[in-house]
Amino acid sequence: MRNFQIQYSNKVLTVTISRPKALNALNAELLEELNDIIQELYQNNDTRGLILTGDGDKAFVAGADIKELALLTQEQALELAKSGQALFKKIEDCPKPIIAAVNGFALGGGCELAMSCHIRIATENAKFGQPEINLGIIPGYGGTQRLTQLVGRGKALELMLTADQISAQEAKLLGLVNHVVSNRDELMSTANAIMNKIVSKSPLAVANIIKSVNAGFGFENAGYATEAECFAASTATNDFKEGTKSFIEKRQPSFTGR
Ligand code: CAA
Repeated sequence: MRNFQIQYSNKVLTVTISRPKALNALNAELLEELNDIIQELYQNNDTRGLILTGDGDKAFVAGADIKELALLTQEQALELAKSGQALFKKIEDCPKPIIAAVNGFALGGGCELAMSCHIRIATENAKFGQPEINLGIIPGYGGTQRLTQLVGRGKALELMLTADQISAQEAKLLGLVNHVVSNRDELMSTANAIMNKIVSKSPLAVANIIKSVNAGFGFENAGYATEAECFAASTATNDFKEGTKSFIEKRQPSFTGR
């Protein structure tokens, strides 16, 4: 695995996303490797849970890889959104607990990844947000749906429309985060303590609780499909070209609505 460090202890995998030069941004290779890790979690009877975190103190994941996104055709963008949504659904529906230990920026696809996990714990310096609108696009990995489910429609709309980043404490008040801790050591010890409590229970009961809770939040409604289509359509615009170019050139974008 080029983009992950993996440790195994007491039947629990600790998976560290490690692409520090890009603040752990999700590129195609990384997502493929994550898919393999989750597939293995489903299949391996010896593993009972997974803790997902980011390398370093600065970022959990700073989103989808913008430099890669900038090169996509509309068709490729649709495929990317659909496959990302499917991977994050696989995480959400995993019969074994998955805890996100968020150690810094969880933006865009990073916030979406954390939201697909069953429980979120964050350090005080963590920041959450869906800033895709600054690039002239929208969230594409289920963020429009899961943020709305977790914090309610009004606040979800505000966060996605303004691109505001919120602190870990505010995320906790909104129900986006379960616990806030002061530093990385406490982050991992809290994640492990919660995980150990869960893996001491009946695995069948654990799986059935996850299945039952998720039964009301499937792909049946049009939300995920609409999001994937709108995400792809937005990558065909001049505003997307300007948004990604301005990010790469480290300047403010100037949008025209075309
Ligand atoms: N993709 C690719 N590279 C990224 C990245 C991303 N999402 N986020 C950061 N990087 C890179 C930067 O380009 C920079 O690389 P260089 O050193 O080569 O210039 C490096 O990581 C460090 O980043 P910054 O210099 O920007 O660090 P900062 O401390 O000044 O700012 C930040 C940190 C606020 C997180 C800022 O990097 C940022 O805004 N990142 C983008 C966040 C974002 O827009 N995420 C959404 C992506 S789109 C998406 O996720 C779509 C979806 O739903 C599927």
